[in-house]
Amino acid sequence: MQKDLILILDFGSQYSHMIARRIRDIGVYTILLQYRDYENSISNLLSKKSKGIILSGGPFSVNENNPPLISKDIFNLNIPIFGICYGMQLISFLFQGKIEKSKYQEYGKTSFTINNSNNKLFYKIPKKSIVWMSHFDEIKILPKNYKTIGYTPSCSIAAFKHINKEIYAVQFHPEVKNTEYGIYMLKNFVFHICKCEKSWKLKNFLKNAIKNIKKRINNKKKVLLGFSGGIDSFVTAYIIHNAIGKNYLICVFVDTGLLLSKEKERIFALCNKMNLSIKIIDAKNRFLSRLSRVIDPEIKRKIIGKEFFYIFQEEAEKIKDVEFLAQGTIYSDIIESSSKKSQLSCSIKSHHNVGGLPDSKFRNLKIIEPLKELFKDEVRKLGEEIGIPKEILRKHPFPGPGLGIRIIGRINEKKINILKKAENILMEELKIHDIYDSVSQAFIILLPIKSVGVMGDKRTYEYAAVLRIINTEDFMTATFSHLSYDFLEKISNRITSEVDGINRIVYDITSKPPATIEWE
Ligand code: XMP
Repeated sequence: MQKDLILILDFGSQYSHMIARRIRDIGVYTILLQYRDYENSISNLLSKKSKGIILSGGPFSVNENNPPLISKDIFNLNIPIFGICYGMQLISFLFQGKIEKSKYQEYGKTSFTINNSNNKLFYKIPKKSIVWMSHFDEIKILPKNYKTIGYTPSCSIAAFKHINKEIYAVQFHPEVKNTEYGIYMLKNFVFHICKCEKSWKLKNFLKNAIKNIKKRINNKKKVLLGFSGGIDSFVTAYIIHNAIGKNYLICVFVDTGLLLSKEKERIFALCNKMNLSIKIIDAKNRFLSRLSRVIDPEIKRKIIGKEFFYIFQEEAEKIKDVEFLAQGTIYSDIIESSSKKSQLSCSIKSHHNVGGLPDSKFRNLKIIEPLKELFKDEVRKLGEEIGIPKEILRKHPFPGPGLGIRIIGRINEKKINILKKAENILMEELKIHDIYDSVSQAFIILLPIKSVGVMGDKRTYEYAAVLRIINTEDFMTATFSHLSYDFLEKISNRITSEVDGINRIVYDITSKPPATIEWE
């Protein structure tokens, strides 16, 4: 059955993916597309029967040279449209409204008043509520045939609608939790205005994913799965395993020498428990020799990505009848790499499973990515549903390039061992203090800087290390975890006294943005 779809055209806002998630949470399938692909989206809309289009926010001004624009054709499709922030200014710009720099740039919470409640977007929403604003331009004169439906103290046109078409727009961000009734506005748009039916259910997703893979691999060919040991690869393995059976799925786990202590053994045991066949490739020397002189983070990532590629290629050649390569790619990987391709947002770093791999295809292998439509929290929910052990579900993410991007500058075995010991202590303490599950990711970064210390009346000159502990919903934005000084002190004391090679610990108190979660 064709599921109802809401298409989101992304103009580069940091919140665009949130719109997609919120709408999926209320049971409707969404696709996020770069605005430059709008021509494709029109054919998409027609072929996939999109019931509505959302124009996202973005960091641009319609008054700058060459602002991101879309063709007006989209407004002739007779499909409801909802513009958010930049999306609102864009609608206004396209239909000759007037947009100017606001006198008071608004960032954060403000009070919003509905001045025309006779519209479906604000159905059952109180006249006054709190909304989340983040803009520097505002609409001064409405386009013809539009009317204002809401305002804030410093923005007289904070929401508008077309007088007789289903075109709505708001200056604030309904997708952000700080907008008190934001989810109700999205629900009103999706159900009331677009008349979507709830058809996005993870249970259906699982059944369909297994069915589709069964259909695609009906010739007893084998699948090689690039297996990292995280939740994405376990859920991918589960789906393929259920579609084609144990004998046709080979999980390949690469020991890069840049793993945490006992990681290989842990993953091996878990695969056995789940009845998955796993092949572990010892490639430690290979990775370390390629990386020994490298300092630049992007070059490190590219080298690691390429080495993974060569290893999978070699393995595919060794095993008879391999026709498919599976990966645990999820939707945020796709969004990141597509925004890189379209240069809508600048390239931040090459995540090894997407950007780090060479463009050429894997031998003649066909790619299978059953999770590529899902967000991380959806994968986790799916994992829970299919009974994946808690220790995998709750495991903090560990990047493909591993400790290679947590040792800043040159990598060598001595530094790897120092970092592994420090990591062990951190994990032990997080678990002892019952903090592991309440933070999203915690790790140590080893700096290439040494500093002077004193231990037992002796001078030391050792490496400094950074403690990075963050909380996040989706890893696209994050804040540092506000942990007690006592806990931080305990970690610092233990690492500096138990790990030879580190005599100083600092705590990273930066959010993402402006920083990223990993340092490289
Ligand atoms: P950043 O540093 O980009 O990290 O804020 C966001 C999340 O992604 C993880 N990460 C990676 N995961 N391959 C992966 O599979 C990679 O190359 C990679 N780089 C970063 C990071 O640990 C965090 O959870």
